[in-house]
Order: sequence, then structure tokens, then C-alpha cells
Amino acid sequence: MAATERRAYSTADLEQRVTEIEIRPMSEADVEPGLELVMKVFAEFVAPDLRPAGVASFAKWADPTAFAERLRGGHRALAAVHGGRIVGVVEWMPPAHVAMLFVDAAMQGEGVGQRLFEAGLRQIRATRQDVKTVGVHASRYAVPFYRRLGFRALAPEQEQDGIRYTPMLLVLEE
Ligand SMILES: CC(C)(COP(=O)(O)OP(=O)(O)OC[C@H]1O[C@@H](n2cnc3c(N)ncnc32)[C@H](O)[C@@H]1OP(=O)(O)O)[C@@H](O)C(=O)NCCC(=O)NCCS
Repeated sequence: MAATERRAYSTADLEQRVTEIEIRPMSEADVEPGLELVMKVFAEFVAPDLRPAGVASFAKWADPTAFAERLRGGHRALAAVHGGRIVGVVEWMPPAHVAMLFVDAAMQGEGVGQRLFEAGLRQIRATRQDVKTVGVHASRYAVPFYRRLGFRALAPEQEQDGIRYTPMLLVLEE
């Protein structure tokens, strides 16, 4: 009984936290704190699976100047914000490829990654009705997450510039 009460309490608490999360397009001021979060989460969950060359090539990809340049070139980025702090970032490459998706370790497993993904996809589909599939190069850690969203692996894990990833595809419903 006590355990049930505890679970009921923590579910309500979790729901409140999740509804308090705002998903918004990343502003210029969000770039630095957003990429700091990306690098922190990358170091903890992705870098341990990579060779030093992979860590270095990701650091170049997550460099603020390179990131801002990509946004000017048509990439989209959204941030998840909780209590004024960025707790998640998604970057989309046109037409519909997830270029990065990172959620603060303390907020993982609470639906933030899925909300970031769905918000970005909604924006893309609002302007591009011809988009029928979504691609991602999934880190080893994120493969189960993408499977849960309906993605399928197109090939076994591979390596490019020291980055290990599984190419995955989601076929969108009409
Ligand atoms: C991958 C990542 C973005 C997922 O974000 P998240 O906020 O933790 O995921 P969500 O809470 O939105 O999960 C959505 C669903 O996927 C499931 N899921 C998430 N991670 C999972 C995992 N490692 N194994 C199994 N299922 C998982 C959740 O349980 C949830 O399913 P449910 O609705 O049945 O409960 C996050 O864990 C992360 O930042 N990982 C480290 C960085 C990384 O690898 N990024 C991807 C680069 S391609």
C-alpha cells in the first residue's frame, strides 16, 4: 500500500514536471547553453563508445559557429526548457533527418526526447507534405529509443570519421 501511494505521488510529480517543459525554436541566445548541454550529454552517453577521432569530429559538429551556420543554411533547432534552463536540444537537417538529439541525464526517460522529436516533425510536415520518411544516424545508446518511435535499422552499426552509428529510417503514416 505504501509502495502504491509512493508510485502514485511520483507519477503526479512527473506529469507536472513534463507539462512544465516548454519546447521552442532555439534563439541566438540559446545556442551557447544548448550546445553546452549537448557536449555534456555526449561526453557521458556517447563518447565512451567512440574513438578519440570520433569525439573530435563531434566536437567540431557541435561548435557554436558551425551550428549557427547550419541554422542559417536551413537546419532547424528546438530546445526543451525547464525552469528557465535548457534540458534538451534537437537539430533537424532538411528535408527530414535528425542531426542531433540530446536530453539532460536528469530528465531522460520522461518524454522530453519524444516531445522534441514530434515537435520538429510537426513543423516539417506543416511545410513539406512530400516528406514520407525520417532518417537518423543513431548512437548505440539511442537505438532502443528510436526503435520505440518506430524507426527500423537500415544496416548494421558502421563508423565514419570515428563516429559509430546505426542508420535508421522511420516511414511516416499518410
Ligand atoms: C536518446 C535520448 C535523446 C532519448 O530521450 P529521452 O527524453 O530519454 O526519451 P523519452 O523519455 O522521450 O523516451 C521515449 C520512449 O522511448 C523509450 N526509451 C528511451 N530511451 C530508451 C532506452 N535507452 N531503452 C529503451 N527504451 C527507451 C522510453 O521508455 C519511451 O517509451 P515509453 O513511451 O514506452 O515509455 C536521450 O536518452 C539522450 O539524450 N541520450 C544520449 C544522447 C544520444 O545518444 N542522443 C542520440 C544521438 S543520435
